[in-house]
Amino acid sequence: EKGGYKHFMQKEIFEQPQALSNTLLNRLPLDGEAIPLDLPFTDRDLADLTRIHIVACGTSWHAGLVGKFLIEQLSRVAVEVDYASEYRYREPVVQPGTLIVGITQSGETADTLAAMKEAAIRGARTLAICNVMGSTATRQSEATILTHAGPEIGVASTKAFTTQLAVLTLLALKLGEAKGTLDPRLKAELLQGLRELPAHLERLNALEPKIVQWAHRWKDATDFLYLGRGPCYPIALEGALKLKEISYIHAEGYPAGEMKHGPIALIDKTLPVVALMPKDAHREKTLSNLQEAAARDGRILALVTEGDTGLAGIAEDVLELPAIHPWLAPIVYAVPLQLLAYHIAVLRGCDVDQPRNLAKSVTVE
Ligand code: F6R
Repeated sequence: EKGGYKHFMQKEIFEQPQALSNTLLNRLPLDGEAIPLDLPFTDRDLADLTRIHIVACGTSWHAGLVGKFLIEQLSRVAVEVDYASEYRYREPVVQPGTLIVGITQSGETADTLAAMKEAAIRGARTLAICNVMGSTATRQSEATILTHAGPEIGVASTKAFTTQLAVLTLLALKLGEAKGTLDPRLKAELLQGLRELPAHLERLNALEPKIVQWAHRWKDATDFLYLGRGPCYPIALEGALKLKEISYIHAEGYPAGEMKHGPIALIDKTLPVVALMPKDAHREKTLSNLQEAAARDGRILALVTEGDTGLAGIAEDVLELPAIHPWLAPIVYAVPLQLLAYHIAVLRGCDVDQPRNLAKSVTVE
């Protein structure tokens, strides 16, 4: 059932090219055509939206943060992202024209279901992004966009996350179309990027030996710091969560610009700093943050765009990732961080598929 892999998590990491192809199937329009997302909302309904609230937990919440970036950039609709457990008890302000988007792999997470209901009672339209057809989230929502990742058995979410990111990209494009804010050239670039994604992810397999080296070198570290900016900031959070939950090493993710407001005090030669620095609008800023970390003896492991030599002499090691549209980089950069967490956990003898204290689906609050 694990198809030759040692763990479900490993199998699910490597299934991501196929999971993304399946999720994007029949959803990428031909040139000049509209995004074919099968939603019960009319273009008018979408154009009338004035704000979006995204609610989710854990890894799905990280997807929501990337979704906020994409939706705001492409449609100029203001997005709030909340932990479902906070939103539901906060007496949220739901103004006319609000869409609540619940992101949930299982479709059964108690807090996410309750947060969506809370918004619906207050008049929001409801949309679920979900991996399980027929789950409670899909039944209680007006609209559903399914991720077609296939069953996810490993407790740590991997392919569900990257397919959520793909769906959120499509949703952002769709909203941009409805709002009339979408630049056709940008739309074409993103669609082309999505088409190329599965092939780019296949190419990541070749990077595994280097990630195994990193895992050997750092498996006994007590803490990790993950840094990113813009759409890769949530991927820093996700990298840290993956490491925490399966290897039990303490890790924190931060927006790189926040480093000097506290976390920089942690940096010394024993602290691995995993840095996400794709070639995008944030690169120079991230680079200067990393120079500051290196000046304090931080040990930087960097993920950069192929051919970027800007971190020579600064980073201890660099992983070069395929060049891709910067707003799709989160999908590509998430994968090596999943692999890093996986290999460290295996080397530490942890039960990767069933980490202690965790359940696959959290149906009680
Ligand atoms: C982390 C993880 C959890 C889930 C969270 C939400 O790897 O799997 O953080 O993401 O429990 O679950 P869903 O998406 O099913 O609502």
